[in-house]
Amino acid sequence: MKGVLLHGGFGTRLRPLTHTGPKQLIKVAGKPVSQWCIEDLRDSGVRDIAIILGELAPERVIEYYGDGRWLNVNITYVYQGYPYGLAHAVFIAKDFVGDEEFVVYLGDNILVEGISEFVRKFKESDADAMVLLTKVPDPTKFGVAEFDEKGRLKRLVEKPRKPPSDYALVGVYFFRPPAIFNVIEGLKPSWRKELEITDALQRLIDLGYRVEYSIVKGWWKDTGTPEDILEANRLLLDNKYTNTIIKGEVEKGAIIEGRVFVDEGAIVKNGSVVRGPAYIGRNSVIGPKAYVGPFTSIGDNVVLDNIEVENSVIMDNVEIRGLGERIVDSIIGSNARIVHSDLRPRGLRFIVGENTSIIL
Ligand code: DAU
Repeated sequence: MKGVLLHGGFGTRLRPLTHTGPKQLIKVAGKPVSQWCIEDLRDSGVRDIAIILGELAPERVIEYYGDGRWLNVNITYVYQGYPYGLAHAVFIAKDFVGDEEFVVYLGDNILVEGISEFVRKFKESDADAMVLLTKVPDPTKFGVAEFDEKGRLKRLVEKPRKPPSDYALVGVYFFRPPAIFNVIEGLKPSWRKELEITDALQRLIDLGYRVEYSIVKGWWKDTGTPEDILEANRLLLDNKYTNTIIKGEVEKGAIIEGRVFVDEGAIVKNGSVVRGPAYIGRNSVIGPKAYVGPFTSIGDNVVLDNIEVENSVIMDNVEIRGLGERIVDSIIGSNARIVHSDLRPRGLRFIVGENTSIIL
């Protein structure tokens, strides 16, 4: 089975974090969201993966993943550019897929329990397509399934105002060519001017192809908003880091409590406290007077001193010093600097990017 990972789109709801790169590269619990997807594909036996690239800094994706060998996968890149829709992104992977069965994985989706069970199920079936569904409290934000009296899929609707059920489409789809490519060719853009994968699936159903479904019972998240990023970070830290692992250095007098991952070159200095689940990235310096609280991920090359951080994601190359405050429920983008100064006149000094939110 081959894999198609969608890495395009605009990431509008995650600005300013997405001004300089695609949302799928935002790190949660120490890895970009899309790396969690690639590792899930790999661990499910899918090693030939095409990454569909968008307009937003595609070179950063290529730079990060390369040929994929470091992750034990083979990566091919297909350039989509403007986000004409999920079905368009799937269609341009046609040559890569050939006549092999394949799985489409939206690069901003996280399934904590992974997809291996579903890969197995699809391989054993002879269905033309299989979708994953899960029960959600607000189905209006997703593609939604409607079932017939025998419990078979009857209709799939994209973001309906009046949802026919509570079952949302998870961003992982299985296909056996060529049916899916044939129906996409005949699709018309939707009201949001996209070629919708939901419409393509509906056509398969209408034309009598076999479209099956499986229910995802474990935790699933589409990381479209800052709140989603924080929630994904919490869940991944809690589920994927089951032991304390110290690759860097914890100085005598520093306190590590609970499950904490300290990566190579990082130092937790005497006088600091790190309470897990927490992740400290490469070459970061914590302390001497710092507290990193539960459900916090610190990126690479970060400096934290005289500051407390809890339930937050701090990205790479960030410096936060001298505030003597506690930062909670926050996402701080790469290269940000928040420091205390004694300059006169006293006051808060900001150089803040577009779409930033600061709550003091
Ligand atoms: O997350 C599940 C939902 O994903 C499903 O319930 C919906 O049925 C499905 O349409 C999709 O809805 P979204 O509105 O969340 O899709 P979004 O535009 O956020 O795109 C999903 C991913 O695919 C995201 O990582 C960006 C990427 N993408 C998107 C488009 C439109 C592309 O690579 N190319 C595209 O053209």
